[in-house]
Amino acid sequence: MRTTVLIVAAGSGSRLQAGVPKALVTLSDGHTMLEHCLDSVVAARDAGAIDLHAIAVVVPGDPDTATSLETVCHAFAARTAVTVQTVPGGAERADSVRAGLAAVRTLAGSAGSAGGPFGRHALLVHDAARPFVPPAVFGAVVTALESGTAAVVPAVEVVDTIKTVAGAGPEEVTGTLQRTQLRAVQTPQGFDLTSLEAAHRLAEEGAGGAAALTDDAMAMEAAGHRVSVVTGDPLGFKITTQLDLMLANALLASGTSTNLEHH
Ligand code: C5P
Repeated sequence: MRTTVLIVAAGSGSRLQAGVPKALVTLSDGHTMLEHCLDSVVAARDAGAIDLHAIAVVVPGDPDTATSLETVCHAFAARTAVTVQTVPGGAERADSVRAGLAAVRTLAGSAGSAGGPFGRHALLVHDAARPFVPPAVFGAVVTALESGTAAVVPAVEVVDTIKTVAGAGPEEVTGTLQRTQLRAVQTPQGFDLTSLEAAHRLAEEGAGGAAALTDDAMAMEAAGHRVSVVTGDPLGFKITTQLDLMLANALLASGTSTNLEHH
């Protein structure tokens, strides 16, 4: 199935306190987070896990950062011969995804598939902040789309006990969720493009606004779609804090960033 990957890289990374937008943060091997993320997509292509058509990258709106990230994308495109389109993002992740969907629609149209502009074509929405996703995860997501599902997420089991809390000031526990029923959901998440566009339109009109939508499967759930789950990977972790960055650099130093599942 021809596959277009939408990478959202427009976050500020304020929780990382790196002084630069997260996708531009350099890991210990001298490569930026966005480079690692783009490389993981090509690794999935080279492993035969996905039939890559193009990549759209959503970059921050401010011109300096956008230029830096566009330079990364152009170098990657020149090195790999993959079509890469950049597009400015928005204030919240969901705003950035919506901005990216328009670019994806154009890119997918150029696939020229017989069943309409996006017939038999997979869309993967992926966080730039997840630099080490193994090819098998990309493959599992696309395989689920090929079987006809409109939405699929990779997930891993939760190790902590998750409680709900309430109260301004000192919080109190209001309940405990059954851990066996919980999953931590990663990206890439796979979708039928037309269904995801409609779901995001619906979510935009709904309560909570863009900030309430922390992933794209949420929009599909709200629109009444079934969302399939495939096995994620610990290496699909998202770099959010300094501790995550230290873990990423330790993985690079030990050479296990691409094969943790074997350890
Ligand atoms: O903020 P969070 O860690 O959930 O961000 C996940 C991904 O969404 C990151 O790759 C980040 O660059 C992206 N993002 C975005 N636009 C925003 C906020 C986050 O593209 N406004």
